[in-house]
Amino acid sequence: MCGIFAYAGTENAAPLLIDGLRAVEYRGYDSAGISVIDSSGAIKTIKRGDHKASLENLSSEVSGGELAGVVGIGHTRWATHGLVNQQNSHPHESISGVVSIAHNGIIENFIELKDELVDTGVQFKSETDSEVLAHLVGHSVASGTSLREAVIGASSRIKGNTAVVAVSTAEPDIVVGLRIGNAGGIVVGKNDHAAVMASDTIALLPYTSEVIYLEPGEVVEIRKDGVQLFDLEGSSISRDAVVTVQNFEAAQKGNHPHFMSKEIAEEPDAVQAAMRGRADFANGTISLPEISLTLDQIRSIDRVILTGMGTSMHTGMFGASVIESIARIPSVCENSSELRYRNPVLNSKTLVIAMTQSGETADTLAAIEYARQAGALQGVILEMEGSQATRVADFTLGVKAGQEICVASTKTMIASMMTLLELAVFLGQARGVIDANRVKEIVSQMAELPSLISTALDLNDEITALADRLCKYEDLLYLGRGAQLPMALEGALKMKEIAYIHAEGNPAGEMKHGMNALLGPGMATIVCAPQNDLYPKMLSNISEVKARGGEVIAIVSENDETIERVADHVIRVPECPELLQPFVTLIPLQILAYRTALALDRDPDKPRNLAKTVTVE
Ligand code: AGP
Repeated sequence: MCGIFAYAGTENAAPLLIDGLRAVEYRGYDSAGISVIDSSGAIKTIKRGDHKASLENLSSEVSGGELAGVVGIGHTRWATHGLVNQQNSHPHESISGVVSIAHNGIIENFIELKDELVDTGVQFKSETDSEVLAHLVGHSVASGTSLREAVIGASSRIKGNTAVVAVSTAEPDIVVGLRIGNAGGIVVGKNDHAAVMASDTIALLPYTSEVIYLEPGEVVEIRKDGVQLFDLEGSSISRDAVVTVQNFEAAQKGNHPHFMSKEIAEEPDAVQAAMRGRADFANGTISLPEISLTLDQIRSIDRVILTGMGTSMHTGMFGASVIESIARIPSVCENSSELRYRNPVLNSKTLVIAMTQSGETADTLAAIEYARQAGALQGVILEMEGSQATRVADFTLGVKAGQEICVASTKTMIASMMTLLELAVFLGQARGVIDANRVKEIVSQMAELPSLISTALDLNDEITALADRLCKYEDLLYLGRGAQLPMALEGALKMKEIAYIHAEGNPAGEMKHGMNALLGPGMATIVCAPQNDLYPKMLSNISEVKARGGEVIAIVSENDETIERVADHVIRVPECPELLQPFVTLIPLQILAYRTALALDRDPDKPRNLAKTVTVE
């Protein structure tokens, strides 16, 4: 949540700050602002709180070039405290104007700190928690403390996870960055003319591909000719930069109108990438060298708990179903914000697997940390290399989908599902519950998946027509059973997230236990019903919806000959083995949400009130 970018170099900082903010805007687009140390040594701040238009408006405002200076900080905001408006936008200056800060995180004790500052005569300009940091740092700097020590001192007074960058008129050549806990990372890089830092590596790529990830409890000073890391006691830290695999071009929209359409179109490649180096199609084997658990540890596992939030939780639900059915280990998926607080019984025979695209989700990181402290085995399946989650578990499996920018997750989900399928096979084989022939059979089925997904992507036009129908509804119901249930839940989440239509995902068998009371012409139902053992039961559920006057869209296998007799609209996905069916039903669900959002004139890349990374609870 919130994007930070900072620059110290030889060029005019303002346009570079805007470019940097564009790269991290997906983290929050409620407001945008920059502070630059101008040629007279004073801090000049410009900010806009115009919702999704903030960064564009800010860009136009600074394009005149009157904001001259070579050191500065910028911020894109996802609002937590205070309305979306100009006053609450970052950066925040201290009252004396000697300091400006941009902050990511929540200051849990800000009321107490604010009262204390107000008692000393400080007049707050915003309703944000972050402004207390500006004044705490400003007070120290005004009394002669260095910017670095002032930032460390201020952060020691606050409760909660924090990432902050600060500039000061007293040291106009530097920017200080600090990270406490897991409120989003800070990545640092430099070239011959400048040093930069940001919330995400992608913003650094125009400067360098060699980056340093700040760990919690570390501080950094950047200046035009270098970068220096410190701990909170002020001791210097030496750390080599690592070469990132992220690619700037890959994170651009290209010819697509939205990141979401681009990322959906990339799904065949994402699945392929998740198999590369792991699935050996010639020999029909799966290898996961990243899994460092011993054979004894793997054989001792008596329970798997997958955990995550939102789409990642739905992915985990799919994972629980394949791990249980293939590796025969009792498996469940649980929401991380519940798991972390319910004092679960975990031990060294429990494998807890965190699912996360960003690797930064606060609840998911807390759940895996809980698992670590409880002595459970821990794994992380994630997209973002270098994120905090890569450093917390016994093993990390990258899903390799390539950077996902759109807030609504699509390609990461499908690549993570493939990774989970590989994990299920790997565990099953290591535990001796599936033989080499079964592995071969699964691997040969997996080989077909990219082309099956490509075929499902061709459904775009017919789904567009259905999206026009769905626009008129205020309520939608999504139904599935077995491994189709997480897909139904995901279809509903996507529709809520980007089309803003109330949508509920339900196990189809649950209908008679309450949901049926809502059926009628006012609610359309989307049913995931490919050919499998549960298909006859899904047909009955569809008939029940129809009997009560509801419109039904059924997502079924290509050769289904019965469905037209019961459903109003049919989306046919390619025939495939049952194991792969969730992959192919997911595609039309994502496209349906995307097309409905467009039909309702919503921007699918910038859903209201949401951010790509949720670094606070
Ligand atoms: C998905 O479309 C959402 N953006 C959201 O539910 C997301 O999956 C959730 O916030 C978890 O994020 P993570 O995968 O980065 O941990």
